[in-house]
Amino acid sequence: EKGTYPHFMLKEIDEQPIVMRKIIREYQNGDNQIKLDKDIRKAMQDTDRVYIIAAGTSYHAGLVGKEFMEKLANIPVEVHVASEFSYNMPLLSEKPLFVFISQSGETADSRSVLVKIKELGHPALTITNVPGSTLSREADYTLHLHAGPEIAVASTKAYTAQIAVLAILAVDTAQAKDLTLDFDPLQELALVANAMEVLTDQKEEVEQLTRDYLATTRNAFFIGRSADYHVSLEGALKLKEISYIQAEGFAGGELKHGTIALIEEGTPVVALATQKNVNYSIRGNVQEVVARGANALVISMKGLEQDGDAFVLPKVHELLTPLVSVVPLQLLAYYAALHRDCDVDKPRNLAKSVTVE
Ligand code: M6R
Repeated sequence: EKGTYPHFMLKEIDEQPIVMRKIIREYQNGDNQIKLDKDIRKAMQDTDRVYIIAAGTSYHAGLVGKEFMEKLANIPVEVHVASEFSYNMPLLSEKPLFVFISQSGETADSRSVLVKIKELGHPALTITNVPGSTLSREADYTLHLHAGPEIAVASTKAYTAQIAVLAILAVDTAQAKDLTLDFDPLQELALVANAMEVLTDQKEEVEQLTRDYLATTRNAFFIGRSADYHVSLEGALKLKEISYIQAEGFAGGELKHGTIALIEEGTPVVALATQKNVNYSIRGNVQEVVARGANALVISMKGLEQDGDAFVLPKVHELLTPLVSVVPLQLLAYYAALHRDCDVDKPRNLAKSVTVE
């Protein structure tokens, strides 16, 4: 039920801090440590390469998950769009582990990959919001998102839940391999939940930004580098699917290789700046688009902010920034759709779960 909310999407955006805390509770043992099922732990220890398979927003969460597994757990990861993998399978490593990410657990493109890799005898783990779903039943292992039902077609709380569970999976594997972490993951996730709460209280500010930057535009660009690049893909998808504004997310460094040709007077460019090591470069990209007339909306993180930034996010651990930077992008999309009188929860031509290939 929506309760007092005008739309499920807004309710689900607001639920993100609660979901974060639920995930923290569900995945910790008595000593405030992350502890996963021993079979999942073993599967992660035994593999020489993880293949993440997903579609849409879940694919975008997978891109973030790759960073966690590679940086924290030292496992090479490939992330694949399910519909591509199915018909154009890459060369596999000797001991692959397949990780399916799917809110619904019913996405036909992902299922088709699961059927094929099972025929080949490879192990599979499904990360889903629906434990009894097809992808969950047919895989060897399941990790539950604990996000509660997601009704709006535009995925919001499932995306952040997927990223949090992927972080937990990576941390558990790192612990199993005796790799040292220089931070307390549950503590950092708790700080993320608090930061999300601050952000969901800033709806008026984001609504104003929507008026200032996206009111009449026909297109918009999202740029970022490293983790911010992955989130910019998600920001663009969110905006296009519910507001029908043509939106594209891409890596800041790719601008000069083509897309910059599209920048003209007033083109909105949403730039994310949450990563210290690329802050200088993304700021350079912002200058390049501004010099060509773009209306740049910079979303930075406390500690990296500069004069003129439109929105400053509370500081969280650098690996976990996607969990917070996505929130204003979800809200931007929501208000853009609302201002255009679009059907926010049921955008045209889309279904909540895509059960055809
Ligand atoms: O249920 P799934 O996570 O497998 O769904 C995958 C995509 O269809 C889904 O994320 C879609 O891209 C959303 N509408 C995005 O908001």
